[in-house]
Amino acid sequence: MKIVIIGGTGLIGSKTAIRLRNKGHEVLAVSPNTGVNTITGEGLAEALVGAEVVVDLANAPSWEDKAVLEFFETSGRNLLAAEANAGVKHHIALSIVGTERLPENGYFRAKLAQERL
Ligand SMILES: NC(=O)c1ccc[n+]([C@@H]2O[C@H](COP(=O)([O-])OP(=O)(O)OC[C@H]3O[C@@H](n4cnc5c(N)ncnc54)[C@H](OP(=O)(O)O)[C@@H]3O)[C@@H](O)[C@H]2O)c1
Repeated sequence: MKIVIIGGTGLIGSKTAIRLRNKGHEVLAVSPNTGVNTITGEGLAEALVGAEVVVDLANAPSWEDKAVLEFFETSGRNLLAAEANAGVKHHIALSIVGTERLPENGYFRAKLAQERL
């Protein structure tokens, strides 16, 4: 099965790619450095062709309150729209336990926004 890992070159993404490849899946591990950007939309449609599953393991370049919220909202919206267009059936996003219990933390607010999307 084709699985696209968004943020596939990052800490969690690269480990996930290895595990999924070891299980025999066709894995496309992408990021801005490989030409796929969920903020600008660059390369997204092409990457998702034929994918059954997308695992969103992208992270924001800035964790400043406003910037990180904007990143997860924009990235999530663009990615979900591209998945719908490509007929992707499963979307998995990695969040953090208890995001709803620490609203004073800007990064957690952004992750909660991602979960809601
Ligand atoms: N690390 C943890 O312990 C942990 C725990 C719980 C949850 N998480 C969640 O897991 C996710 C990944 O975390 P991480 O620690 O692995 O992050 P990371 O090491 O900083 O990797 C981030 C990845 O996101 C990519 N990326 C950045 N901007 C992007 C964009 N506009 N479009 C597509 N990809 C983009 C980066 O690509 P480039 O290298 O090309 O910039 C990189 O591959 C995050 O959502 C985080 O909240 C992480």
